[in-house]
Amino acid sequence: MTGQCQAGTFLSGPPLQQRQVSKTACLSVFTEKGEHSINTSPEYARQAIERSLTRLGTSYVDLYYLHRLDKVTPIEKTMAALGELKQAGKIRHIGLSECSSTALRRAHAVEPAACVQIEYSAFSLDIETPQYDLLSTCRELGIAVVAYSPLGWGMLGGAIRSMSALSKPGDMRAALVPRFFKENLDANVALVDKLSEIAGRKGVTTAQPALAWLLAQGDDIFPIPGTRNPERLAENLGAMQVTLTAEEEKAIRLLADNVAGSREGVILKDYYFGDSPPLENA
Ligand SMILES: NC(=O)c1ccc[n+]([C@@H]2O[C@H](COP(=O)([O-])OP(=O)(O)OC[C@H]3O[C@@H](n4cnc5c(N)ncnc54)[C@H](OP(=O)(O)O)[C@@H]3O)[C@@H](O)[C@H]2O)c1
Repeated sequence: MTGQCQAGTFLSGPPLQQRQVSKTACLSVFTEKGEHSINTSPEYARQAIERSLTRLGTSYVDLYYLHRLDKVTPIEKTMAALGELKQAGKIRHIGLSECSSTALRRAHAVEPAACVQIEYSAFSLDIETPQYDLLSTCRELGIAVVAYSPLGWGMLGGAIRSMSALSKPGDMRAALVPRFFKENLDANVALVDKLSEIAGRKGVTTAQPALAWLLAQGDDIFPIPGTRNPERLAENLGAMQVTLTAEEEKAIRLLADNVAGSREGVILKDYYFGDSPPLENA
């Protein structure tokens, strides 16, 4: 919500500034009071977009995400409501996040999904596995993959080497994400050291081969690294110029086999690769 207010201030700037930014919003998982709540009902979809448009100070968003599935609303009903918002000109495209491949197929049959936002990085290859079948489903249906946390929540940037790097006020990783728990951190730092060795041999930063690896997985993969630092933003964009050899690609892929701890955060742990109840039960 704070992010949308800040984006709204930015978007109220000059027209050129407005044209360069794609406006996105999502059916939020947090209420106005910051409490955890997932609601994908048609009614909430209609209310939430109005609040987002007000905060962003715009009449439409380019991409409206269904951030998590609420396990109560059949996905067909949510997508039909989002289709109406599209017809009304309030959203241009629909995205889903952390959905199962079955839910994605059902959603896409009602309204086209433009993309799926899902964790994908050299530390998180779940979407490639037959168990989840999400990457192959996206490819079959022509849906882009927006790779969230492409630096493994920061781990693959190489700057996190001990628990003290996670101790700033507001940094919840050590408390919520198992890969950052004390018992797992050293093993994961040792894996990042292997990435840093590859980066060192190429004369690039640790983050760059991690992002280049993702970009090499296909033209349909769009990594969205997060940073508050303009220099790192430039560094991350520089990953587009980094080419990996087949051996480097293979070595980076092998890192995921040995990652200690789950990628699944404690709060939303029941909502990964989320399914949706059958339509006939509604
Ligand atoms: N759909 C979902 O459920 C979901 C879940 C999580 C995240 N996301 C989205 O994914 C995007 C990125 O996620 P994320 O920020 O969690 O993960 P990330 O991109 O994997 O990691 C970001 C962290 O890495 C650090 N970092 C960035 N560039 C770096 C560099 N070149 N070298 C070293 N460290 C670097 C950042 O610190 P500094 O800021 O200090 O640079 C930040 O702590 C965001 O847009 C977020 O909203 C979506």
